[in-house]
Amino acid sequence: MRLLFNMSLQEKIDQRRTFAIISHPDAGKTTLTEKLLLFGGAIQTAGAVKSNKIKKTATSDFMEIEKQRGISVATSVMSFEYGGKLINILDTPGHKDFAEDTYRTLSAVDSVILVVDSVKGVEEQTERLMEVCRMRNTPVIIFINKLDREGLDPFMLIDELESKLSISTRPLTWPISMGKGFKGVYNLYESSLRLFSPSKTTIDEDVVEINDLDDPKVKDLIGENLASQLIEDVEMIEGLYEPLDPELYKDGLLAPVFFGSAINNFGVLELLQTFIQLSPAPQKRPLEAGEIEPLDKEFSGFVFKIHANLDPNHRDRIAFFRICSGKFERNKFFHHVRLEKKMRFSNPTSFMAQSKQIIDEAYPGDVIGLYDSGNFKIGDSLTEGSSHRFKGIPSFSPEIFRELINKDPMKSKQLEKGIRQLTDEGVAQLFIQQPGNRKVIGTVGQLQFDVIKYRLEHEYGAKCDLVPLNFFKASWITADQKDDLEKFKRQKVNSIYFDKQERPVFMAESQWMLNVAQENNPGLNFHFTSEFDS
Ligand code: G4P
Repeated sequence: MRLLFNMSLQEKIDQRRTFAIISHPDAGKTTLTEKLLLFGGAIQTAGAVKSNKIKKTATSDFMEIEKQRGISVATSVMSFEYGGKLINILDTPGHKDFAEDTYRTLSAVDSVILVVDSVKGVEEQTERLMEVCRMRNTPVIIFINKLDREGLDPFMLIDELESKLSISTRPLTWPISMGKGFKGVYNLYESSLRLFSPSKTTIDEDVVEINDLDDPKVKDLIGENLASQLIEDVEMIEGLYEPLDPELYKDGLLAPVFFGSAINNFGVLELLQTFIQLSPAPQKRPLEAGEIEPLDKEFSGFVFKIHANLDPNHRDRIAFFRICSGKFERNKFFHHVRLEKKMRFSNPTSFMAQSKQIIDEAYPGDVIGLYDSGNFKIGDSLTEGSSHRFKGIPSFSPEIFRELINKDPMKSKQLEKGIRQLTDEGVAQLFIQQPGNRKVIGTVGQLQFDVIKYRLEHEYGAKCDLVPLNFFKASWITADQKDDLEKFKRQKVNSIYFDKQERPVFMAESQWMLNVAQENNPGLNFHFTSEFDS
């Protein structure tokens, strides 16, 4: 690998921290994001990030959601400086129908902060998001939120995190009571006590250094009962857990845990300060062949998200591009690997302090916006000439399937083009049956079908029906022996489709049928994400 002996590139890399905040909806992701931005000086008032949230809406009201998503483009990436670091927070949509967006965004970060509601504990979406983090060994810090409410016992919460998320944990702060009696958190790392006072919007200075928990000062501050409970808890924690090993965290095997209340700006500073110290700078990224170091002098990166504007007066698309190595420069020609064509960008944007600004250069870890007139699809890479293709942006087996029926035979070309472009953007997945050209669209949420129908009609002039199909799951199939695969394809001819890369996919109508197919065909491999070693 050709490394560039250029301290300034190294320094630029060391300075950057690119991460996402993830949570089950309503655990407090937006609130925590906002507080981090307040600390970073990127916003001045609480409430500024609220517009970013996709509010609870009737599922059919996707235009309203799109409007909100439009607003959220500006806040899709939020950059600010704190403690000498340039921090890029990548926003992930809370709405479950956009879960695929979230999974793809996670391919562009170097670490995550996972927010868990102390009242609800580990929820469904938390588990799914963590599965994605584990697939990539993404380092995770956990923030247990809403300590101002009567939540679950902290030891129970930690147990639940470990068992449901299959990750080891290490508390770094510990709550002193919760709900109405919530007194504050004890910082196990620095042996200090931060006392809770609600509704603070400024940086909290009320930290009490504690050398010894038996110090009478502790009893004076939190009362005798809570002081002895704290001593007991801390002894238990120190007995149960090894000191935090930063390497285990960086390998994605151990999650430091913080407790707090985002809405009250409490426990957030500890989280941010530790994040600055612990979290990894931009990391090497996996390629289809090998991997690429950020210090590699050749520029490279990939598109992880495409945002299309539904407003007919502004039909522009923005490709969100993560830089993985070298240096990006405005107006320089780069190599679009899939299209094998040269492209340059005259108005690439950064997302610093929430306003989009044209940038001249960008470095590994940065996310830039590239205006796109249809050249990009999710996963596309740009380089200075190499044919690098990045791994780690899989599609997951969809959960809802519908057949695409053309309602206007005169517009079949438009329909074909439209559905290919929309699925390139990652709105849904397309599976085609051959012979016959029967098209099945798979998504993770109902909303996508409304989006597809609307956009096909308004952007491509094509009309369609989307007829529900009762498929349970799509699995990509491979076999060590080619004959096994061919035999299976012949036997299941009605259930075999092809994805856009023409790889065979088996559509099972039920869990039972899937199990039977697996049992009867030991020579086949069934994959539930689109990325696998074939
Ligand atoms: P999300 O992005 O993860 O979906 O969650 P969000 O931050 O929007 O928070 C969900 C709800 O939880 C919000 O209330 C928010 O005010 C509240 N919340 C966040 N942090 C805390 C906390 O530390 N303690 C308590 N008690 N509540 C918290 P909402 O009523 O849904 O919205 P809003 O009317 O307050 O905006």
